[in-house]
This record gives sequence, structure tokens and C-alpha cells, in this order.
Amino acid sequence: MKLPLKGMSRADITDRLETFKTDDLDWQSGKVFGYVFDPGREAMEVGKQAYMKFLTENALDFTSFPSLYKFERELVDMGLAHLNGPKGSVGNFTSGGTESIILSVKAAREYAAAHSPSIKNPEMILPITAHAAFHKAAKYLSVKVVPVAVDENFRADVKAVKEAITDNTILMVGSAPSYAHGVIDPIAAMAGIARENNILFHTDACVGGFMLPFFKTLGEEIPDFDFCVPGVTSISMDLHKYAYTPKGASLILYRNKEIRKHQIFACSHWTGYTIINNAVMSSRSGGPMAAAYAVLNFIGEEGYLDIARKKIAATRKLVQGIRDHKDLILMSEPDFCMFSFTSRTVSVFHLIDEMNDRGWYIQPALSYAHSRHNIHLSINFSNVQWVEAFLTDLAQSIEKIREIAFGATGDALKKEFENMDPVALSDKEIAQLLELAEIGGDGFPDKMAQINEMLNALPPGFRERLLVEYTNNIF
Ligand SMILES: Cc1ncc(COP(=O)(O)O)c(C=O)c1O
Repeated sequence: MKLPLKGMSRADITDRLETFKTDDLDWQSGKVFGYVFDPGREAMEVGKQAYMKFLTENALDFTSFPSLYKFERELVDMGLAHLNGPKGSVGNFTSGGTESIILSVKAAREYAAAHSPSIKNPEMILPITAHAAFHKAAKYLSVKVVPVAVDENFRADVKAVKEAITDNTILMVGSAPSYAHGVIDPIAAMAGIARENNILFHTDACVGGFMLPFFKTLGEEIPDFDFCVPGVTSISMDLHKYAYTPKGASLILYRNKEIRKHQIFACSHWTGYTIINNAVMSSRSGGPMAAAYAVLNFIGEEGYLDIARKKIAATRKLVQGIRDHKDLILMSEPDFCMFSFTSRTVSVFHLIDEMNDRGWYIQPALSYAHSRHNIHLSINFSNVQWVEAFLTDLAQSIEKIREIAFGATGDALKKEFENMDPVALSDKEIAQLLELAEIGGDGFPDKMAQINEMLNALPPGFRERLLVEYTNNIF
């Protein structure tokens, strides 16, 4: 493929784009449990319109585009009001949860460098259920991850957190909720320990922060997780998830400017324009901010309460349906509209493929520590209409796949790789593994069960190595 000599017509381009879409997930069906947060047609249109209006404005320089400065200030104010931000609390708009998290780790690392210069090898205490974005931040910023255990319900073990503190600890993290199981960590206890030890504490409320206050208003029992907990010093809260704004929208919030200051990057050591960035990215479209601003104002508090009410009801029915099925095991009682379930009698990976054939998208998760491999559901506004149909199809799919043998590939692999170092894996062995998973060739496979089964059997280091090699090959 090369750049065409003559530009294509607009009609041809539109046709071409449509053909590209043919194999994408059909998120408009409402049968997709993940990835896309659909607020309904009208709110989506409002977001699109605002996005397009500010598509070309550049948030690189807020003095040139005061409109974007205004959006950011007002969105942050709304976020702080929503999460009990005290007087003096501040924040910024970012492109997503990962960027907010990277910034919180950067701020903590540089805050420590300024206030505790004896720390040369900074560490971050992370429950094993914390989002992978913290591991990414740790890698990018050379901060050591100190993983801590979670209890049988996948909530951080407070005692383990306390014991993990060292003289090098710069940040402690809790999730509200964690993505995998939809449960909220004991934030008050954890942040209390952080405060006693003069350590910063970040609540990752990327997925839950926006909806949880509405759940609470509706009478759900939601433990404190935001700035009302004195030890919480920063919070990430995405808007492009359950606030239903178009993608590229998150907030990173801080208790005060003294901490946030360390997130900001300025550079004059070069020959070009003056750089001053609140975020990781420099040039960025004003679209996501404008769209977030528009959608939040369009849906409003009453609209979000209505969405929350419907999602709570749908989650209850789904959880009950899973609990009632003899082949399925609910992994934990969720605090939020997301949860996971597993099975010991049928293969969850084949079940996912079968559901996929029936038009559903549900997400696999591999086993890690005592979290058995499972199916994850993030319940969305657009899924609410399909609860009964989903449970019926799930039950039928279980019967259809019941006889499929599973686990053999996994058991053999487990034995083979048990004592090997992932770094020592040769190119030939990688090619063999890819072939075994039937993902060595062109295109993406229709069925994922075999691949997931294989990945599930491998230790995490091997999974990562294989995924990197595979991705490096296909792009
Ligand atoms: C709890 C939590 N934190 C962080 C993230 C990362 O967010 P993003 O995909 O917007 O970078 C997610 C994504 O699902 C999440 O659930």
C-alpha cells in the first residue's frame, strides 16, 4: 500500500472506511459487554457534534485556545465536586485512565524526590488487582512495583499493605473498584496507613469514580473511596467510561497543588517553542474535552441517576442468573456494575467463543494468583435491554460446549515451561508456540479458545513475551 498519486474522492473514501469496519465488534447491537460505552443515540450525537467543533483546536497551548482552558477548568471542577475535593484540590484533563495513572506516579516520584531526597530507588505498593497501567507507569518511570496480596474476595489485604512499606515507598494504590472483579479495596484503611507513614495514596477510580456516587445516592452500600478519606492524595477518574463521553477523556485529581506541581512538565532546553505540559501528550485535539463537556452537561445528574438505576437492576439480575447456574461460579459479590465468573465443569474460553458465535462479546481473563481464569462482564447502559436474552444464550451455550475436552494443551505446556526463563525462549520456540495456538499466519483467528487456553497455561512472563513477539510480528 502506497499513498495514491491522485487524491481519492470523498465518496470512495467513505466506501473504503465502511469496508474497513465490516469485521469490527457490532457495539451498536448492545450485545457487547466491554470496550464501548454507549450512552444512547442522542447523547452520542451531542458528543460527536462538540468533538467535531473542536477537532482541530490544539490543547498544546492553552493561552492560544482559552476555550480549551475553560473546558478543562470546568470539567476538573465538576470532577472535584463529584468526589468531595476539599478546598485547594486541583486536577487536569488527560486522554484516558492510563495517562492519568502515569501522571499520578510521575507526580509521586518527583514529590518524593523533592521531599525525601534520600529515596534513590522509589517503590510503589500495588495490590495484585490494580490495573496494568500502574505496571506500565512503573516501567516508564523506573519505579519498582511491590505487589501485595488480596483476600479471597479480591480486596487488598490491609495487613499485607502495611507490611510492604519500606523507606523507599513513594506511593500506595487502591482501586474503586478494581476492573477484574468490580470490588472496592478497603481505601479508608489503606489510605489511613499511608497517611500515618507520610506516604501518598492514589485511588484508581478510573472505571468507578463517576458512577459510584450515583450508586450511593440510590442507596447502594458504597465504602468511602474519594477525597472524603483524609489520606487519599490523588484520584484518577475516567469520563470516557461510565460518564459515557467519547474516548480520550479522563481526569487526574489531586488534594493540593503542592503534589500536582510535580506532574507538570516544562522544557526550555531546546531551540523550539516553549513547552509546558499538564499531561503526557503535547499536541492534542480539543475534541475529547469539548465532547466530554457537552455530554456531561447534556445527560446531567438526573440522567446519570437514571442510567445508574437501570444498570444496578441489570447487574443484580445477571449476578443472580450466574449464581443460579450450576456450572457457573461468581468470583466475588461486586460493588459495581462489573464482575467475573468462572466454571470448573466447562471451559470458559470455549463458552466465550460460542457466545461470540451468537453475537455477544464477553471478555476472557487469564488466571493469575488465586484469580482463576474467567469471563468478565462490564455492564453498560446499552446492555440493560438484553439481560434475559443473555442469560438464555449463556445457558444454551454451556450445553452446546459441555462435551468439549479442554485443559490438555494447557497441562502439557505447564509442565514444559515450569522451570524455564521467559527471556531464554528462542525464536524457534516462540514460533512453535504461536503455531500451537494457531496464530502464526495472517489475519486474526475466529476462535480464541485455543489461544486463551495456551496463554492461560503459561506463566505470566511467558505470556508477556509471546504477546510482545506476536504483536511485533503483525505490525
Ligand atoms: C480501574 C481501571 N484503571 C485504569 C484503567 C485504564 O484506563 P484506559 O484504558 O482509559 O487507559 C482501566 C480500564 O479499564 C480501569 O478499569
